Amino acid sequence: MREQWLKRWREGRIGFHLAQTHPALVRHWKALKVPGRAKVLVPLCGKSLDMRWLSEQGHPVLGVELAPEAIEQFIAQHSGEISRYHQAGFHIARQGSVELWQGDFFHLHIRQVDEVEAFYDRASLIALPPATRQRYAFHLAQLVPPGAKGLLVTLQHRDGDAGPPYSVSEKEIDELFTPNFSLEKREEGAADERGFAESVWALERRGPLI
Ligand SMILES: C[S@@+](CC[C@H](N)C(=O)[O-])C[C@H]1O[C@@H](n2cnc3c(N)ncnc32)[C@H](O)[C@@H]1O
Repeated sequence: MREQWLKRWREGRIGFHLAQTHPALVRHWKALKVPGRAKVLVPLCGKSLDMRWLSEQGHPVLGVELAPEAIEQFIAQHSGEISRYHQAGFHIARQGSVELWQGDFFHLHIRQVDEVEAFYDRASLIALPPATRQRYAFHLAQLVPPGAKGLLVTLQHRDGDAGPPYSVSEKEIDELFTPNFSLEKREEGAADERGFAESVWALERRGPLI
């Protein structure tokens, strides 16, 4: 799966990338009442402009992404000095208040994200095959402290799984996240021409970890 994503980036097959901030982020982020200076973890971040929007709201951002192309393209879209360093097997590029960690999200350790207080997932859970999604939800819960709030923007297909993007049902979202998060659906869109309907969830990490 990792190799498939790297290949997609090398070949420029990134139809998931939006040329603007995701409207659901703009509509729903403020209502989460995340403290203004809270650092936001963005797993499987691609080169999403949502990270720029979050940083403009005053949040330091920590994005994690496998593909070096994504990180270089994100940086190239913006002006500002870039610093680069290595930590715990990740190549890190920092531009303004956005830090991009190039490497596998599942290798990120809690020690490296100790200041994170919020998270944002758009098309991250749905990028992962069924067997990996349980691991993703647990890993996310390990990385963020109790009380951390986040937004999940996900997809469900009327005919089930074909992914990526994978269809993740409401039942599965419930099973994946309720052990460690409270969750509330904030929005559900109509199916598009491909049969995918987007839904938006507000999450809050509960403790202790289960
Ligand atoms: C569907 S895209 C979504 C990207 C971004 N969230 C957005 O909204 O544009 C999923 C991204 O996850 C990255 N990815 C897949 N598996 C990963 C992993 N284990 N660790 C870090 N990034 C990963 C892929 O390279 C791809 O850029």
